Amino acid sequence: MSTRTAADLVTTFPFPFPQDTYRYSTNVEPAGRPVETPAGQWGSSMLAVDSEYHHELNERAEILQRDPSRLQVLDHMRPAAWDAMLTLMQELALAYPQDFSLTRNADGTFTWINHLLGWHQQFTWGDESSLPTEPMAYIGAQVQEDIALLDQRGSELFVDAGVITFAADWSFGFDVGMSFMEIHGPVPRVHDLGVIARAQTFITRLQVGAPYRRTNWSLTIGRRLDVATEVYDRWGPDRGWIQTVDDTTFGDAVHLRVEVQHLVRLPQTGAVMFLIRTCMLPLSELARIEPWRARTHAVLQELPEDMADYKGFLSYRDRAVAWLDRQAPAD
Ligand code: HEM
Repeated sequence: MSTRTAADLVTTFPFPFPQDTYRYSTNVEPAGRPVETPAGQWGSSMLAVDSEYHHELNERAEILQRDPSRLQVLDHMRPAAWDAMLTLMQELALAYPQDFSLTRNADGTFTWINHLLGWHQQFTWGDESSLPTEPMAYIGAQVQEDIALLDQRGSELFVDAGVITFAADWSFGFDVGMSFMEIHGPVPRVHDLGVIARAQTFITRLQVGAPYRRTNWSLTIGRRLDVATEVYDRWGPDRGWIQTVDDTTFGDAVHLRVEVQHLVRLPQTGAVMFLIRTCMLPLSELARIEPWRARTHAVLQELPEDMADYKGFLSYRDRAVAWLDRQAPAD
């Protein structure tokens, strides 16, 4: 087996399976509590900066240049974008004080410093001319997380702004402006189970200062972050290629792809911020941690066909199960 994954990506990997079986649920828990894993720990802060920081932000910049539809702020969400930017700056400064700082000056302006990028900016809340780009673009260039902003109208939520460059087979450009229920239309099972209606009710009751989080997961081929529906022609063929490779390549190429998602009520506007952080670990690395290997094997083997199909790995699920089985330690 080869090792190409930086150590911190293993020790902070948010392994998503609490049990040997996996079903959809409204799996939310309060944010900020660190989770111990057999490899290390994750989850002590809402935003995580790791060894992929520069690489992922460069990738986001390239994607946005190629396709500006991945960043959209509907007009009524402009104040929410400021709210999101300031909230994220505060979070970064709190979690990583050596790398980021935010100061409120006596004249009411703010000074923001990002040491990792060498950025130093004085700005006035609400004044776009005081930033080099609009607030969503400015903060999107400094956090590894994708960001969606939801407007609450009565008991319904609408995804009306965001910068989403790492969508796992969905299209932000297509979904922007849609309701929470419409967006989840393609997901199997969840509507009959009431998962999405319950999730919406839960989100509409979110309080300022009490963020929640959940995880979601899939399998993906390679470390490609941009697997949006509109660029299917770039990554879809990998699903055919993976059938043809040898076992070593298979273990290095197939990744467990986990999203750590945070739900945050923004303090100034009351909009809801949804953060999606994508973490990927190749099966070859995951298999070195025996409890992870055994659990992933069990979950994949048992997962109902419609869920594996929706998640896009039905065609290589059996091979992943067999591959993980062969890595089991000898008795
Ligand atoms: C997909 C649940 C919040 C956007 C999904 C899936 C589930 C789910 C079960 C299927 C995932 C898979 O099998 O890989 C939930 C729950 C939430 C929540 C329980 C909150 C407690 C949100 C929010 C957004 C969102 C706030 C806003 C952008 C999406 C999208 C998809 C998705 C775009 C992909 C749909 C597609 O195939 O086009 N969600 N979700 N979700 N969710 Fe959520």
